[in-house]
Amino acid sequence: MNNEKALLAGGMTMLALATSALVVIPYLQLRDVKPTEGVKPYSAAQLRGREVYIANGCVYCHSQQPRDASFAPDAKRGWGRVSVAGDYYYDHPHLLGTMRTGPDLMNIGVRQPSADWHLGHLFQPRAYVPGSIMPSYPFLFDVKDKADPGDKVVNLPEAFNPPGKIVVASATALDLVSYLQSLNRTGAVLPAPPAAKAAP
Ligand code: HEC
Repeated sequence: MNNEKALLAGGMTMLALATSALVVIPYLQLRDVKPTEGVKPYSAAQLRGREVYIANGCVYCHSQQPRDASFAPDAKRGWGRVSVAGDYYYDHPHLLGTMRTGPDLMNIGVRQPSADWHLGHLFQPRAYVPGSIMPSYPFLFDVKDKADPGDKVVNLPEAFNPPGKIVVASATALDLVSYLQSLNRTGAVLPAPPAAKAAP
């Protein structure tokens, strides 16, 4: 090697190009992004639930990124409009996901607002969706003989309730459900179009 300076200059140029493409330009594109309509900061319970979602690997089977009609029929599936940067304003890190073994959950709070349904489904997905391949999360619940004051009893379909017992949601399960219920990115993205002009 007899031209170290050229090598160094080439290396630095490549580094500068990569830094601008991967850091500077995305930063400039995204720095003025505002939350989309209706997107609010998560509450303390929802943030705890978000951690439970991450810890239990929900993100490996569920995306949070409805796609454009040219990629997938997500709107027809009822998963919501195409997501935009402002939808993730309060998500650190975002949970876009890469796999869709289960449905996209970006708007599950709208599609399925019932806490009872979510709790029962987490305890035993097959109680609600026969043949579901989603794992059950029984460790987020207590199975007891009778409810104590303040317990959130899960109303499971008869056939799935442990015989003679009751199923009570843990605080962790309640946090997770509160996070799922908060998933709503259906607000308008662009300013509403001006009202159509009356025909002359
Ligand atoms: C191995 C993959 C897998 C994992 C891990 C997984 N799910 Fe699922 N999930 C599915 C599948 C498949 C379905 C569709 C069948 C059903 O509803 O049970 C589903 C359905 C759902 C639904 C209903 C969606 C709808 O549109 O009705 C919710 C809510 C949900 N999952 C939440 C979770 C949460 C929360 C976690 C983590 C605690 C999780 N899932 C982990 C595969 C998975």
